[in-house]
Amino acid sequence: MSLIAPVSAIRPLAIAAVLLVLAGCATPPAPPPGVLSAWTQLGPQASVSVRAIVPQGSPCPPLNTDQGTLTMQVRAAGNGDAPPTASANPAFQPPFPVTACAIDLPAGARTAAIAGEPLPMPQAALRRIVILGDTGCRIKVPADGPGDPIQDCSDPHAWPWARVAAAAARERPDLVIHVGDYHYREYCDDPVRCAPLRDKGVIVGSGWSGWQADFFRPAAPLLAQAPWVFVRGNHENCDRGGEGWMRFLSPVPYQACPDQRYKSPTQSVLANNLTDDAWRIDLDAGLGLLIVDNAGQQDYLPLRSTPQDIALFERQLAVLRQPAPAQRLWLLSHRPLWYDLLTPSQQPNAFQAALQGSLPASVQLAVGGHEHAFQTLNFATAGDPAGRPAQLVVGGSGTQLEAQDPASPLYEGKTGPRGMERGQPDGRLYDGLAARSGILLIRHGFLVLDRDERGWAGRLLDADGGLVTRCRIDDAGKEIACAWPSG
Ligand SMILES: [Fe+2]
Repeated sequence: MSLIAPVSAIRPLAIAAVLLVLAGCATPPAPPPGVLSAWTQLGPQASVSVRAIVPQGSPCPPLNTDQGTLTMQVRAAGNGDAPPTASANPAFQPPFPVTACAIDLPAGARTAAIAGEPLPMPQAALRRIVILGDTGCRIKVPADGPGDPIQDCSDPHAWPWARVAAAAARERPDLVIHVGDYHYREYCDDPVRCAPLRDKGVIVGSGWSGWQADFFRPAAPLLAQAPWVFVRGNHENCDRGGEGWMRFLSPVPYQACPDQRYKSPTQSVLANNLTDDAWRIDLDAGLGLLIVDNAGQQDYLPLRSTPQDIALFERQLAVLRQPAPAQRLWLLSHRPLWYDLLTPSQQPNAFQAALQGSLPASVQLAVGGHEHAFQTLNFATAGDPAGRPAQLVVGGSGTQLEAQDPASPLYEGKTGPRGMERGQPDGRLYDGLAARSGILLIRHGFLVLDRDERGWAGRLLDADGGLVTRCRIDDAGKEIACAWPSG
């Protein structure tokens, strides 16, 4: 990146986060006065966007940089605080009584601050990356059916996202990658199951209060620590939490989500979901990222059921046809290319078909979430530069794990705790090819990657930062090799 801050830059917010955690206090560092949240995110065309959220009616704050003082612009104005009526689509224009502000940092800026609080800046050479995903508290219970098992969002053991974010902040990464699914608390309409949660103060809804509870409040220590790359998850589709995604986290200018109702004929799909074109970040001389919005894809359907998606993906993935950079590339998408929730009979789906033969050879790793677990799959043999990239899934950073979901093929109801985990592939075919190696762990946590002379040394950490297992990604190969954990 062209925007450089010294590695030793002092970050009062991050230090405050560490001190608070050491003191046993769960309160995140306070954002600048009058600002509900502020962070830095990487975007297309080497942009670095500073974002802030202020109460509706308050002006966007000035951003002080070493290149001068800038006035943050309104990205999305507030729309009041009136809740939708009971019959209304809860995902369409939910209440956001806040203003989303944004501004791109000028090239060459080395420092930025709002109201005296420094913001994290990109590093010239990345030393440490945190990867996490699928963090929201899972509540989606209809009034007329069993729905899914729900998490108690008031219990940090049942929903550990705040613990994960605090532990990840203590690692002091240079970059955070979130592979999507930030907002889960969509609706809770069964009076028997939902009233006790509401009595505890659990917030449900797709507007600001839901986004604040599900993401911004627990994420605060980690937002203060490093710039982020945000990948859009299916929970950020327009028929779910999409309006919040558009207001706050989307890498492109705000667009209002149309009225699409979940699980209805108007539901969000790839074609109608305000799907972004894929884009690339050249992080440094050694690594670039390709970010794909496949949130609206019906990846659970075979290609023959969604043939129209091929043309959409080919248009969306034009960045793949640009001259390949010299760096190794990691492909980021919420829905993974290959994973255990996609049965062999459904493959290839449209995403797999669109990428067959079109991934640059420099793509080393495909990173996704969506599967609420940690999974690695290795296909290429050593020394095969044209081989298939490795697959990494980091989808267990807070939301309910596959092991607790009776609808998941990874439900452990019959096997007992950790009975569905495995230390090697089970021989199944992923788009026609069996993995050579890989592990599946169904635990909450996140991945830390440290640059070294060979590539990246990885640590999979639990929700409190304890070591689960170690991994390696060597520059010379297309493999993420993780040891089977001892405990
Ligand atoms: Fe997902």
